Amino acid sequence: MALDLNTNFALPNCLFSLVVALIIVSVTLSLMQKKKNNEKEKKLEVPPGKMGLPWIGETMEFYKAQKNNQIFEDFVQPRTAKYGKIFKTRLMGSPTVVVNGADANRFLLSNEFKLVISSWPSSSVQLMGKDSIMEKQGNAHHCLRGVIAKSLSYASLDAMVPKICDSVTSHLDKYWNNQNNISLYRTTKILTFKIVFECLLGMKVEAEMVGMFERVLEGVFALPISFPGSKFSRAKKARKEIENVLVDIVQQKRKEMEESSRRGEEEGEEEEEEGSMLLSRLVVGLIRGEITEEEVVDNVVLLVFAAHDTTSFAIAMTFRMLAHHPNCFSLLLQEHMEILSNKRGGGENLTLEDTKKMKYTWQVARESMRLFPPIFGSFRKAIVDIEYEGFIIPKGWKVLWTTYGTHYNGEYFRDPMEFDPSRFDEAIQPYVFVPFGGGPRVCAGYQLAKLNMLIFVHFVVTCYHWSLQYPEEPITMDPLPFPSQGMPINISPKLL
Ligand code: HEM
Repeated sequence: MALDLNTNFALPNCLFSLVVALIIVSVTLSLMQKKKNNEKEKKLEVPPGKMGLPWIGETMEFYKAQKNNQIFEDFVQPRTAKYGKIFKTRLMGSPTVVVNGADANRFLLSNEFKLVISSWPSSSVQLMGKDSIMEKQGNAHHCLRGVIAKSLSYASLDAMVPKICDSVTSHLDKYWNNQNNISLYRTTKILTFKIVFECLLGMKVEAEMVGMFERVLEGVFALPISFPGSKFSRAKKARKEIENVLVDIVQQKRKEMEESSRRGEEEGEEEEEEGSMLLSRLVVGLIRGEITEEEVVDNVVLLVFAAHDTTSFAIAMTFRMLAHHPNCFSLLLQEHMEILSNKRGGGENLTLEDTKKMKYTWQVARESMRLFPPIFGSFRKAIVDIEYEGFIIPKGWKVLWTTYGTHYNGEYFRDPMEFDPSRFDEAIQPYVFVPFGGGPRVCAGYQLAKLNMLIFVHFVVTCYHWSLQYPEEPITMDPLPFPSQGMPINISPKLL
């Protein structure tokens, strides 16, 4: 009986313990889940930072820093010191997250089209055209890049080197000969303009075009307000003039190519070479119905814009650094004198192989671009909510990556503010040295920019004595950086 009694009471006891245990477990689990959710909620906050005034946010601080070429020192650095590598702000009406570092560069740049898309101000889009590569996404972007890449393949670059040499030497003959001084930045702007047109696109530069393009470029980052005399309306007018000239050229080219294919002409050497130029490739796409006339025009405008101020600034800064570091200049000069000494009679043109021997020169140019990046970074727009580094970047917000986040950081470059081309003796990790960007939108003209710089340096250092007129000339930005006085240099021919 006693046993029965015990047994009868034992069952409810056991059940009771089980229920209590279950309650304890479920309460613990729910507390753990709650804690986890809380942590997640805490994690999913937007990054720290200050949004500033409505709409305007911190735009004025940003513009001021930009004008003084101090975006890093006056805008980014004080905020990273306060909030960390990732912070929020509001720029030009948009909530924006600024990210810094190689991991952030990799995350952002390699996720183009998946998490972010490139995001340009409305004035740039209106002036470059909505059909330029910078506005294209996914497959359309991929196709256009393919066309540009073909014109910069090994064979195309090989054929391009003598053309660039001719453009440089004829430019020096025309603008440098019999001069005692010259504005290096302005003269290289004219030269890069010519090189893009003649050596990449295969188009003759019409005299009035340089001025027209300059006026368009002036409005690319201006407020998109059209009133008589405003930068933006002047730029739009110039864009219309360019469009008229380019449409005529494109239509003429199309006519010639269609006639030539109707006649079924055998492609001679000259035509084959001409057919590899970018304009011809774009017009082939037009004839096949793969691209439109607007796309051809918009992309020509974009390429000139992308190549122009960037390459000339990189060249100017390379010479500035050489002037400040005579030891580096001696090493560089030696490299070019050796290349020259292997040329019969000195009159022979450079080859692609010669440019590959300009290793030290390229180190100097890269180190100059590390310290003076022609493009400080660029904006992206989040196309979904992005979780990054424990924060959320809400869909629609802008994200700004900058070259400074790695270029000026001791974590990646020892004594980052020192000029030391030998640091490029060793390979640099991906997404650390990023003057040309990265990911699917990495600079499409990198090879052309490199050849342009190397070849120009070669002819100047072998043919001229030169010195800076203002060694400490301030650099300003509007919106791209440039030497405030145009970098005048004294020149005299070398008697070889
Ligand atoms: C030193 C000279 C140059 C520098 C520093 C430079 C830098 C850059 C950077 C940073 C980007 C990426 C922008 C982004 O991520 O939003 C870019 C894109 C681009 N660059 Fe360059 N660039 C230079 C010269 C050139 C030249 C000579 C050309 C063409 C002839 C060119 C054509 C382009 C194009 C077409 C894009 C857009 C690529 C795309 O959206 O897929 N660039 N460049």
